[in-house]
Amino acid sequence: MPLVIEPATEADLSDYVDIQHAAFADGEVGLLLNSRGPLTEARRKMYHERSLNDMKNPTYHYIKCVDTDLNKTIGFGKWRIHPNGRTQQEVDDSWYTPTPQPESNVKAEHDFFMYLNESRRDYMGTKPVVFLHVMVTLPEHQGRGAGRMMMKWGVDEADRLGLDAYVESSEAGRRLYESFGFKMLKERIWKLADYGIPGDLTATNAILWRDAPSKKVV
Ligand SMILES: CC(C)(COP(=O)(O)OP(=O)(O)OC[C@H]1O[C@@H](n2cnc3c(N)ncnc32)[C@H](O)[C@@H]1OP(=O)(O)O)[C@@H](O)C(=O)NCCC(=O)NCCS
Repeated sequence: MPLVIEPATEADLSDYVDIQHAAFADGEVGLLLNSRGPLTEARRKMYHERSLNDMKNPTYHYIKCVDTDLNKTIGFGKWRIHPNGRTQQEVDDSWYTPTPQPESNVKAEHDFFMYLNESRRDYMGTKPVVFLHVMVTLPEHQGRGAGRMMMKWGVDEADRLGLDAYVESSEAGRRLYESFGFKMLKERIWKLADYGIPGDLTATNAILWRDAPSKKVV
């Protein structure tokens, strides 16, 4: 199973959007955000444009995990590296307001992204940091080590640059992040029934932080 990590470019964006959709559709957060159905053309265009814009920003680093036997990309990581931190203006500008689509659960989208915005502002703020923004593996290729390789890429960068690291962790990723030394700062649980979704399911996300190695007490 020869998996390799390579930089991702504009030519990979279509795969990126598809894999992101497929990976997040599976979990309870996908259900909360009503993204379990097929990816609509409008949403595909929106994600594509946003990612293309992000790619032009040198603080973003898109990587992909390729299965060289299949000649197929099976996962992506989107890291942000701020070796010198961000200005308050940059922090304010990064506040994300979702653009509701016809299929959106508007209240759920609002609450979920406000939680992300507030957590990023409160914990990362203007600090120098490495931020794992997105990590996704195609569901049928999960459990083969792609996630661990994509994590190692960013954690190695954090160690090389002597930076703390931040991630918003899904339930699926939590154990993996903790195995790299991330520790929980905050956890949020949404009751899906509060958003009109029948049943008693919950969706969970946690804010995890990893101190730069120089700060660790040995
Ligand atoms: C989180 C995610 C990227 C991990 O990717 P991955 O390629 O499966 O990662 P790995 O193969 O390196 O496995 C990581 C760990 O998860 C476990 N795992 C992953 N998929 C699994 C599966 N389908 N069944 C059982 N265990 C699984 C692995 O055993 C491994 O644990 P271990 O290292 O303690 O043995 C992937 O599960 C995913 O895309 N999830 C949906 C999107 C998401 O939640 N992304 C993270 C947002 S912060």
